[in-house]
Amino acid sequence: MLDKLLKERALPPLLTQADGTPVTDWRTRRAVLLTALETYSYGHTPPPPLRVWCEELEAPAPFRRIYGGKVRQERLLLHFETEHGVCRFPFVLALPLRVEKPPVLLHLAFRPDLPDKAVPVEEITDAGYALAVVCYQDMVNDAHFGDFSDGIAAHFGTQNPRGPEEWGKIGMWAYGASRVLDYLLTRADIDAAHTAVVGHSRLGKTALWCAAQDERFRFGISNDSGCSGAAISRENTGETIEAICRQFPYWFCENYTKYTNDEDMLPVDQHMLLALMAPRPLYVSSSSEDDWADPAAELLSCKMAGEAYQLYNLEGVIIPDTGVENDTAYQDGMIGYHKKTGEHSLTD
Ligand code: GCU
Repeated sequence: MLDKLLKERALPPLLTQADGTPVTDWRTRRAVLLTALETYSYGHTPPPPLRVWCEELEAPAPFRRIYGGKVRQERLLLHFETEHGVCRFPFVLALPLRVEKPPVLLHLAFRPDLPDKAVPVEEITDAGYALAVVCYQDMVNDAHFGDFSDGIAAHFGTQNPRGPEEWGKIGMWAYGASRVLDYLLTRADIDAAHTAVVGHSRLGKTALWCAAQDERFRFGISNDSGCSGAAISRENTGETIEAICRQFPYWFCENYTKYTNDEDMLPVDQHMLLALMAPRPLYVSSSSEDDWADPAAELLSCKMAGEAYQLYNLEGVIIPDTGVENDTAYQDGMIGYHKKTGEHSLTD
């Protein structure tokens, strides 16, 4: 059933090069696709900073423990330095005290504070993970019509009108998440080599673009990321490139808006974004009533991205031929998938 739907969508092939020859080496192909996604969709990302460090926003206090003393919480102000000077934004770290070197979930969050109703902090830390939470608007604002006057945008001097390939806000939030990882990797008390980046909706798009570019992320997780995230754009039955560019053109590079009524001419589609995770694990989740994000298009994209994993003799998503059941996790392949019953939301 999925194969038939995929044929109907006529996607740009993942494993055929521009000259028609088959792709055998994923590293070379990966570099081509990364550049294409920068050029046509998200814009180019500047090089990493020269230096990253953190300052504690509260004085160290042994009693700054939460969840009955099981977790230590640190409020940090991250600084990164580039040739443009120093840029800063805050984030929160929750560390389970019973684990010596916990792996990390880096959550790109809509709200700055812990606990956040969408994030089961206690369950995550009880399971032995550290949790880093960065509120996206602390990195750069999400004001409509593209205000580039603060945070990471101002630091790099992004201004309207932007050049056709200059980055948009998704690229900036993804850049900020990589800076949090820069810092986490300096900490001896954290296993930051095992960090997953996770986000919902616009931040699911961001988590995917972040992990796609930055291979130091061991794992990428997107929830209800939809259009310009996990969902295939060609013949999307929910949000289209036209709709997203009408409301949020500043999330992308200007080139993206050229394809608003012409998805078929876009040299990339979103299975290419997911494939950039290969051979690392990826998890995509959808919600049954989230028509705007088009759950079927999210699953199709997972299915297609699996071709990249096959080059490593790994399987992408493994689902029955009959399709997926709601509220069932399909986790046997390197791409995990589930569709929860319900509306557009990130839940426990
Ligand atoms: C809008 C937008 C979506 C996005 C969502 C969100 O609905 O159209 O693409 O995912 O906002 O981030 O909440």
